[in-house]
Amino acid sequence: MKIENIKVCAFDAYGTCFDVNSAAENVAPKIGENWLAFSNTWRTSQLEYTWLRSLMKKHVNFWKITEDSLDYAMTLHKINKALRNELLDLYKTLSPYPELKECLTKLKNKKIKTCILSNGTPELLNHLVSNAGVKNLFDKILSIEKIKIYKPDPAVYEMTTKKFSCLPSEVCFMSANNWDIVGGGVYGYQCVWVNRNNKIFDNLGYHPKNIIKNLKELINLV
Ligand code: LAC
Repeated sequence: MKIENIKVCAFDAYGTCFDVNSAAENVAPKIGENWLAFSNTWRTSQLEYTWLRSLMKKHVNFWKITEDSLDYAMTLHKINKALRNELLDLYKTLSPYPELKECLTKLKNKKIKTCILSNGTPELLNHLVSNAGVKNLFDKILSIEKIKIYKPDPAVYEMTTKKFSCLPSEVCFMSANNWDIVGGGVYGYQCVWVNRNNKIFDNLGYHPKNIIKNLKELINLV
């Protein structure tokens, strides 16, 4: 289904533009065969900590959450603690998905505004986009650190409409995280779920307007 009447394409960062498993994958030979299970625990607990901290109203930034969830995952999977700093350094330079740059370039050619809307801190996000060579392809980097509450609080999705002075329906939002798509969709965005791994969608009261396998397919929709 074509996405029409949009002013801005907003992208989730982690898992959508950048591969969250690339940190553990880089040291997979040192971790052993359960590197992906460990990486999945790291990511799942990282997200759970964002939700729990927002519910408890005990905010700490995304870097602290990333460290805390790493410590939990390393203990659970009995990973050598000597790898901790290496994994954290790798998390600061997660690999961009290969099609990201081309997708952003094509959106720029179509004169569509682009932004990141993410739980990450401004420092982390700036570092990621600079490292990936796509900083100049984003008009804005929006971080929840400004409001200190995590996705999927509606205040997060409101950041985009406020920044670009537009209606929720004028935002086309891409995320690989299906609960994030629900958050944006409930707020009123037109959402495109990037279903990279053939997952099934959650039952949370919203279904995405479009489903694509990677960001390359976005260009056919806008
Ligand atoms: C983010 C997480 C949810 O970038 O992927 O906000």
